[in-house]
Amino acid sequence: MSKKFRSQNWFGKTGKDGFIYRAWMKNQGIPSHEFDGRPVIGICNTWSELTPCNAHFRELAESVKRGVSEAGGFPVEFPVMSLGETLIKPTAMLYRNLASMDVEESIRANPVDGVVLMCGCDKTTPSLVMGACSVDIPTIVVSGGPMLTGKFQGKDIGTSDVWRFNDAVRSGTMLQEELLLAEAAMCRSRGHCAVMGTASTMASMVESLGLSLPHNAAIPAADARRKVLAQLSGSRIVNMVKEDLKLSKILTKQAFENAIIVNAAIGGSTNFIIHLLAIAGRIGVDLKLEDFDRLSHNVPLIANLQPSGKYFMEDLYYAGGLPAVLKELDKFLHRDCITANGRTVSENYQTEECYDRNIVATVEKPFNPLSGVAVLKGNLCEHGAVIKPSAASPNLMKHTGKAVVFEDIEDYKARIDDPNLDVDENSILVLKNVGPKGYPGMPEVGNMGIPKKLLSKGVTDMVRISDGRMSGTGFGTVILHASPEAAVGGNFAIVQNGDTISIDVPNRTITLNVPEEELKKRKTNWKTRVTFQERGYVHMYQKHVEQAHLGADLDFLRGGSGSEVTRDSH
Ligand code: FES
Ligand code: MG
Repeated sequence: MSKKFRSQNWFGKTGKDGFIYRAWMKNQGIPSHEFDGRPVIGICNTWSELTPCNAHFRELAESVKRGVSEAGGFPVEFPVMSLGETLIKPTAMLYRNLASMDVEESIRANPVDGVVLMCGCDKTTPSLVMGACSVDIPTIVVSGGPMLTGKFQGKDIGTSDVWRFNDAVRSGTMLQEELLLAEAAMCRSRGHCAVMGTASTMASMVESLGLSLPHNAAIPAADARRKVLAQLSGSRIVNMVKEDLKLSKILTKQAFENAIIVNAAIGGSTNFIIHLLAIAGRIGVDLKLEDFDRLSHNVPLIANLQPSGKYFMEDLYYAGGLPAVLKELDKFLHRDCITANGRTVSENYQTEECYDRNIVATVEKPFNPLSGVAVLKGNLCEHGAVIKPSAASPNLMKHTGKAVVFEDIEDYKARIDDPNLDVDENSILVLKNVGPKGYPGMPEVGNMGIPKKLLSKGVTDMVRISDGRMSGTGFGTVILHASPEAAVGGNFAIVQNGDTISIDVPNRTITLNVPEEELKKRKTNWKTRVTFQERGYVHMYQKHVEQAHLGADLDFLRGGSGSEVTRDSH
């Protein structure tokens, strides 16, 4: 081996230190020649039976290892904190930054020259990428892949149907027994959510950033080609180490812009915004909330995928996968960005095809000329709030209504189905204290359910505003990520029942129609109703978490500390 990699600062040592670094590794049956200076590849695994979307990852890691060995590397698999979206209370988002710290420190502290990030369920992708960025060694992402499309009563179903089923049961059109059958039919294979929810959005994000091999986003978890992709990624990372193709070389400002453009075209989750901002913060790229609006406002929606469209991730793969989308977006993209396989973005999609225009439309004849996210600003939230127009009702894009205010999630739950709730279809539901510091952890409750009394009248959508997030599988005229959040003050904290609010999405404004004098008066009496924890991680989180428009990372985690460790352990 000609070049000396960082792992040789452990395994290449003589004397006591080298003895200690190698001897205990040898208890795993590793022969001496594997310590000869070949690239050591860490496989950062989020396998967990409590993260069902990632439960197949140990098997998938075997394919990665085969690829690493095949290319002459030395694979070492290690676990990091795994965040399962469905089970973790109060919300997996509370722990995204904690998991990223685990990833960062685990990579830096250990003798690895390159790393394969095994990502699946929503938060496992941003947390791993964020952590890796703060170390900045050669890194490739292997996503676990989406589930096969659910099949129920002759229909295709996926996670977005959870919200529909919920409303159907509440309005009496679906029986409890049917709900139980649907439950078994929806998640019928390994993999993460089968719609363009946050997990698929994240898998598409890493592919459009150039952090994975082409087709990473859409190959179903159950498809044998997912294992092929894992094996090829394992081989590729060995060469990335030799080429020193580290994250900062791939993650340029242009790469981030590409990801934003692609996310718009596929109708990706609003969570994308928060995660991409946090990743940019780690790698030192100057990205702003406004960039999402600026870059996506003329990009049409061309992927017909739920929740903005009709189909599922499995269908996207058969239609040509994400490369077919990228190829269609040729005129919008920075074509020369380098990607993990060493080729440019446009070299990667040159030979790809679209096989089904019902699923990937052309830019000229898109499914919806509207896409991406609109960033709304005004006196209600001076640092902005976001809405996903493709998942909202066109007739509500300009709307003025009376606020029906819920001070926190408990208040919402207690009163939403009260027959005496003073609400009609023109009202605007406002939910406070579900932001990063407020909940804490900014849960996905922003697409709050419609009041029962309106549901029974057939109302299926209304304007809802919160400082929380919404599941990537959610939809509706939902305004999210209001910043500053209610917990820290600002006008969002002092909206009251009966105030009128105007939203104007075409003009990007959100206005609280209350005189300045009155707002001032309310502010002098305002006190946060949020409890700030005294101990543990939550204490640190509430103290240091940044607002949503900055990516909700912990303030002291911005940037990176590199990969160097100068002191030995014994
Ligand atoms: Fe894991 Fe949806 S719950 S991806
Ligand atoms: Mg989610």
